[in-house]
Amino acid sequence: MYYISIILVSLFFNFSKTNSYYTKRINTEHRDQDKGRVLLKKYCYSCHNPKASESDRIAPPMIAVKKHYKKSNTTQEEFIASIQNWIKNPIKKNSRMTGAIGKFGIMPKQYFSDETIREISIYMYNNNIEKPKWFDEHHKNKSKNHNKQTKH
Ligand code: HEC
Repeated sequence: MYYISIILVSLFFNFSKTNSYYTKRINTEHRDQDKGRVLLKKYCYSCHNPKASESDRIAPPMIAVKKHYKKSNTTQEEFIASIQNWIKNPIKKNSRMTGAIGKFGIMPKQYFSDETIREISIYMYNNNIEKPKWFDEHHKNKSKNHNKQTKH
């Protein structure tokens, strides 16, 4: 009986430990991504705002950036690394959106900590980025008149 209760107690202890670890992990991830959303709005939406109209915008909306950086086989770590790389070296050679450079001018170099970019990238990778109203229409037209439009 003594042994059985020891086993039971340790089983219970283990279970509650893993269980609370699990809940904690989910909460942390959730909180992290929420932080990423706030940072994205704070630091990137001054230019990459999904609410700007097509004629008023001064940079491509973030969803367009995401489409160029996240392909179906891109892992989260690759995505983070590619955004970090752009933030550190925003030069034409590293651009995946050369059409956007032609339209808006190259993104000015700004300092953001690695941690900030990491949070923003994780949020972008895992969530649906707000889409401007004109976005789908614009892309439909783009594929229809593909030859007439410049790539961006
Ligand atoms: C001062 C305006 C401005 C701010 C703020 C800004 N960007 Fe940009 N960004 C641009 C412009 C303009 C472009 C399009 C031209 C280009 O690609 O360089 C761009 C393009 C990009 C690209 C695509 C680069 C390429 O050509 O492949 C990435 C990635 C990007 N921005 C990430 C970010 C992130 C992340 C933030 C916030 C931490 C941010 N930007 C904040 C202006 C800005």
